[in-house]
Amino acid sequence: MNLVTVFGGSGFLGRYVVRQLASKGFFVRVIVRNPNEALFLKVYGRVGQIQLIGGDIKEEKKIQEYIKGSKCVINCVATFFETRSQSFNVLHVDAAKTLANIARKERVNQFIHISSLGASTKSSSQLLKSKGAGEEAVLQHFPDANIVRPSLIFGTEDTFFNRFAKLSSISPFIPVVGSETKFQPVYVDDVAIAISLLVETDQQKRYLELGGDETYTFKELISMLLNEIKRKRIILKLPFSLAKVMAATNDFFRLIFGDLVPAFLTLAQVKSLENDNLVDTKSDKFSDFGIVPKKLEIVLPKIVGRFN
Ligand SMILES: NC(=O)c1ccc[n+]([C@@H]2O[C@H](COP(=O)([O-])OP(=O)(O)OC[C@H]3O[C@@H](n4cnc5c(N)ncnc54)[C@H](OP(=O)(O)O)[C@@H]3O)[C@@H](O)[C@H]2O)c1
Repeated sequence: MNLVTVFGGSGFLGRYVVRQLASKGFFVRVIVRNPNEALFLKVYGRVGQIQLIGGDIKEEKKIQEYIKGSKCVINCVATFFETRSQSFNVLHVDAAKTLANIARKERVNQFIHISSLGASTKSSSQLLKSKGAGEEAVLQHFPDANIVRPSLIFGTEDTFFNRFAKLSSISPFIPVVGSETKFQPVYVDDVAIAISLLVETDQQKRYLELGGDETYTFKELISMLLNEIKRKRIILKLPFSLAKVMAATNDFFRLIFGDLVPAFLTLAQVKSLENDNLVDTKSDKFSDFGIVPKKLEIVLPKIVGRFN
């Protein structure tokens, strides 16, 4: 059967993946923690083409049932900050490993694991370290798995540009950590198209690093955003030493009070900004799939136009 099961299909990238798969005629089963909040996915397909199942990737005993009959399983699940019930290791390593293991046992033909550029077990950032360990765990249990590592993803629902645009509505300053750190921002639908092509052409063992053609520093991205929404704000470059103290304080209060304290800045985020986020020229990339990545300056007005 032409069935693809997507975990994390209600998320920012996941919804575009679901839409691309549906447009290519696949039946898509989406495992979501709250199906009512994911009903919008239904309109991406014909009646009955998209199936929403309430479930959690951590429910090891139910994974077999969730993926039954699938030709492909895609893991888009992630968290950018830890909560009491979801640590980086639990979600990015243990859950990914279990999913890959059960997928292999169930004879799923293809496994696609979404990771991040910079993922490495040697990273000083707990986030990127867990993403690196997650990749290794997946490949250990599903050696033919495809690993997809995007750079910073932009699109209408992104957290990056939307968050800084919101901040500019209430603050004369925009604090930036790692102002000179370089990124190759990539359009969300381009990543989704690449993933859907992996499925359509039944690729195995591909290792994709996906970034746009242009490289920008963090500061340049914020300047571009401010320019787009026509706001003059002071870009405050925070040194890493100060940012780490602030982030450690935020982490500490979250450890004690849990989600009552918002994750403004985490140590894992700060440390992930210490290195550039650029595509490795040796990996597979968009050009291998005939995709010309969309330019940020074309899409940015659509993302933040409402703040103008
Ligand atoms: N966004 C970026 O700029 C970026 C850059 C590089 C790599 N990536 C990678 O791309 C992938 C997708 O990221 P994203 O930006 O789309 O993240 P996202 O919007 O936060 O989506 C994460 C998804 O995971 C789901 N999820 C979380 N915990 C779950 C659980 N226990 N069981 C089942 N589902 C669970 C969430 O569902 P709920 O609605 O239930 O919370 C959500 O659908 C991740 O692997 C991320 O590391 C993203």
